[in-house]
Formats: sequence, structure tokens, C-alpha cells
Amino acid sequence: MELRVENLTKTFKKKKAVADMNFVLHPGIYGLLGPNGSGKTTLLRMIAGVEKPDRGTVWFDGFKTGDYYDTFTSQLGYLPQHFGYYPTYTVEQFWQYLALLKNLSKPYATSRINTLLKQLHLEEQRHVKLKKLSGGMRQRVGIGQALLNEPKLLLLDEPTVGLDPQERLTFYQILHELADDCIIFLSTHIVSDLDMLADEILVMKAGRLMFQDTKEALIASVQGHVWEVEAMPELQSQYALSRVQGQTLRLVSSQCPAPGARLVTPDLNDFYLYYFQKEA
Ligand SMILES: Nc1ncnc2c1ncn2[C@@H]1O[C@H](COP(=O)(O)OP(=O)(O)OP(=O)(O)O)[C@@H](O)[C@H]1O
Ligand SMILES: [Mg+2]
Repeated sequence: MELRVENLTKTFKKKKAVADMNFVLHPGIYGLLGPNGSGKTTLLRMIAGVEKPDRGTVWFDGFKTGDYYDTFTSQLGYLPQHFGYYPTYTVEQFWQYLALLKNLSKPYATSRINTLLKQLHLEEQRHVKLKKLSGGMRQRVGIGQALLNEPKLLLLDEPTVGLDPQERLTFYQILHELADDCIIFLSTHIVSDLDMLADEILVMKAGRLMFQDTKEALIASVQGHVWEVEAMPELQSQYALSRVQGQTLRLVSSQCPAPGARLVTPDLNDFYLYYFQKEA
């Protein structure tokens, strides 16, 4: 099983949102990382087929998704960044409605809905209207609708927004169980999502793919650029600070920032800061 993205490009007016993206994904969990406006949502929307690219092709399992859209969507689960819902529907009604749109048989849908209510800890909310749910509960309803058809390709746009730590762990567990037999591609700004989940991370900057690599390799690329140093006011304004712990600053810099600064082992947060805040 393979998702292949070829030369995918999208421009809005003069703004290049996604520029010539090329990559291949196999079953497993892939994180999509990049600052606000870097093109993550536009990329996911184009893969899902809800945004038309200016050019480029998405291949799934050897076929062009645009040419076999019904076959493709039967294998696709997609959670948009802001998913639309009917506020007066209950959780169960909403999922039933989407199951109908996805052409799932009634018995299959019923059994999937029961499973997902349990898995996502929404059994007590089964008959509660969506407008009455908390933000995190509603987000779990969105995750659930993406899983209704047991997808082979799961696209999740910032799925963990609003989840409390316990529900985040539940979510990680669900994805890990799926990942042997499913390509999971999720955007996130939360470093711990990537730490806990991603086999590989794709990093976007201004519409382009900067990196596709394992977490370990990305972290290794900033080895020698992360420092701890005693706090000095001028450092705080000059460098991208990764952390402040009492009197100790952790910062990223290609050169030694001050006498007495010690090199430390980098983490994913440092990686992000090095590539995205160094130039800021
Ligand atoms: N429908 C649209 N019309 C015009 N410009 C758009 C549209 N959708 C996205 N853009 C622009 O394309 C660029 C990429 O936006 P996109 O939403 O894909 O970024 P993102 O990486 O998902 O950001 P975020 O982290 O804030 O969700 C931005 O400059 C955005 O303003
Ligand atoms: Mg987005």
C-alpha cells in the first residue's frame, strides 16, 4: 500500500500555498509539521480531494485518486482542521448520517458506531446533541467520523487540538493499533504528538517540503546547535529561546552564544526552533 504525491501545487491568487510537493508514504504514522500558513491544510485537502490542485497527481495504491474517486473515498478517513457538523444532531445521529453518506451498510455502521463510542469514551454522550459537547468531546466525534469506514488512508488535520492528556493517550493508542495496515498522515503543532506517534515527520516551510525523515534524524541535524547558558538579558532578545529554567536559558544557535555556554542534547522542540525561529 502506498500514497504517492507528485508535483502537487496550489496557488491562491498570488500566494503559493503548496509548491511542487513530492513524497511517498507507506503504512505507518507520519507527522506533518510546519508553522501557521505553511500549507499543511491545503496539502491535506488536496490529497483528500476536496481542494483541486493547480497541478500534480495523488496516487493511492497505484491508481490516480481523481480517476477513481469513489473507490478512493471508500478507503479514506479525513478529519478537516475545522469540521462541519449539525449542532442539533446527537453523536449517534451525526455518525449515522455520515455513515449513510459514506455508503456503509446499516449493520456495519451500527457495529462501527458502537465500537467507536467505546474506543473514544463517548458512550455517555451517545444521545447528547453536538452543540452541548465540550470542544474536546466534539473533536473526538470528528476523529470518530474519520474512522467509521476503517480507512486505509487516514488524514487528520490537527486532530489533538482540545484533547485532554488522557484522551490524547487514548488517541495515540488507537492510531498505533491501526498503523500496521493504514497510512496515517496527521498535522500537528504539538511536539509530544510527534514524539509519541510519528515513524517519520514531514516538515513544511512556505509551501515546500523541507524534510522527510525520522524524528531521530531530524533531531541529529541540530546536534551542536543547542546550548545552555546562564541568563543574560541580551541573550534573551538575540536568540531563539527553547526553554527558561530558573537562571538557565536553553537556546538554539549555530555558534557559541556566550562564554561559558554548554552544548546540550537536542530534542524535537529545539529542531523546530532552529529551523523556524532562527531567522525570525
Ligand atoms: N481558500 C483560500 N484562499 C486564499 N488563501 C488561502 C486559502 N486557503 C489557504 N490560503 C493561504 O494558503 C497558505 C497556506 O494555508 P494553510 O491553511 O494550508 O496553512 P497551514 O499550514 O494549515 O496553517 P495552520 O497551521 O495555521 O493551520 C496561507 O498563506 C493561507 O493564507
Ligand atoms: Mg492548517
